[in-house]
Amino acid sequence: MDSFIIKGDICWSKSKTELNTVRDGYLICEDGVCAGVFRYLPEKYAMLPMLDYSDKLVLPGMVDLHIHAPQYAFRGLGMDLELLDWLKTYTFPEEAKYAEREYAEKAYSIFVSRMIKSATTRAVIFATVHKDATILLMDKMEASGLISYVGKVNMDRDAPDDLREPGAEASAYDTFGWLNHIFGSYTRTKPILTPRFLPSCSETLLNELHEVQRAYEIPIQSHLSENPGEVELVRRLFPKTAFYAQGYEQFGLFGNSGKTVMAHCVYCTPEETELIRKNGVYVAHCPSSNMNLASGIAPVRKYLDMGIHVGLGSDVAAGESESVFRVIANAVQVSKLYWRMADDSCRPLCFEEAFWLATRGGGEFFGKAGSFDPGYEFDAVVLDDRDLFIYNDLTVEQRVQRDVYLGADIDRICAKFARGTRII
Ligand code: GUN
Ligand code: FE
Repeated sequence: MDSFIIKGDICWSKSKTELNTVRDGYLICEDGVCAGVFRYLPEKYAMLPMLDYSDKLVLPGMVDLHIHAPQYAFRGLGMDLELLDWLKTYTFPEEAKYAEREYAEKAYSIFVSRMIKSATTRAVIFATVHKDATILLMDKMEASGLISYVGKVNMDRDAPDDLREPGAEASAYDTFGWLNHIFGSYTRTKPILTPRFLPSCSETLLNELHEVQRAYEIPIQSHLSENPGEVELVRRLFPKTAFYAQGYEQFGLFGNSGKTVMAHCVYCTPEETELIRKNGVYVAHCPSSNMNLASGIAPVRKYLDMGIHVGLGSDVAAGESESVFRVIANAVQVSKLYWRMADDSCRPLCFEEAFWLATRGGGEFFGKAGSFDPGYEFDAVVLDDRDLFIYNDLTVEQRVQRDVYLGADIDRICAKFARGTRII
């Protein structure tokens, strides 16, 4: 069934700073695409089946622009470390386990089942360096009905032997093998080129990945200017590049060949920020992760004022939770700290802006997603939040704020749809 009506209390972004709300409205899905929201049911849709969610809250599905599927298994560990120590102590040893099919099968089944239960309908996902485990993850994501980009990670240096790929050629060869294998296999799951971050890629590898990108014309994801220790490491490893992003750009991996999303962007220099804008690179803002790893706070206000594309990322497991609701709340909270403690010219984000980032902002990376405006792909989540408002008569907007801040995505989701397909 991908043409139907949802009746309920509906909310989505009108603009970056305003929400649209319709109490007791009708949201129409026609062949997987949103046909609009109506106060009264138009005659021409009267024959469609109706799902009655009266008194429940209906929101666009959340978009997670940055999450590591293999890290789901160790969420909450090592949260007192900084990035480079956390990678060495927890992340790399955990990711090495995905060489084993049995482990990958178990861990990715849990990851995907949790993604199904969350409010997320779209995600941009890091897998590991392992081709077979990445294909396994893509099979599971496709079967879930969720919409995703999934990347086999590339890393040929600065990592333990049991995780590091044996060389640039081997890494590129496996990447070609992965892409050839999955070509044409899925309708909801797409590949994305995934050099882990500059410290784990030799120049030869970056050059090889440029060839892969040219051959397959796929988008690119990576990390950028996340943590002071990492930025310093890049300076040492790439002494000839003027700034971090240039290390990607000189190999056509920074929005200058394909659509690109970079996680974090906390310490971007003015030149780097300008290159992000000029090349239309998306910033995946990951406030939960940035707090946990003491990475800092990204100047999101500056990025928005410059017209840079920004969305939100959970960055599991550096972010402890896959909840994008939690990330929305954290984005507002860290923006207030940044304004108070670092730069009082950077006005804090209002709730509506953070909600927009989690839906329309990140949704743009997928095309027309993250909105109930007509023509957008139909992604929706329904929350039974009656116990949170029934006794104190909140407006729909107030309910959205409360649901997000109180984590209603944990136990109050009663239905979820991606591209018109029912997931829950
Ligand atoms: N930089 C390189 N790898 C990672 C990772 O797995 N998580 C985070 N947060 N940053 C990274
Ligand atoms: Fe990350």
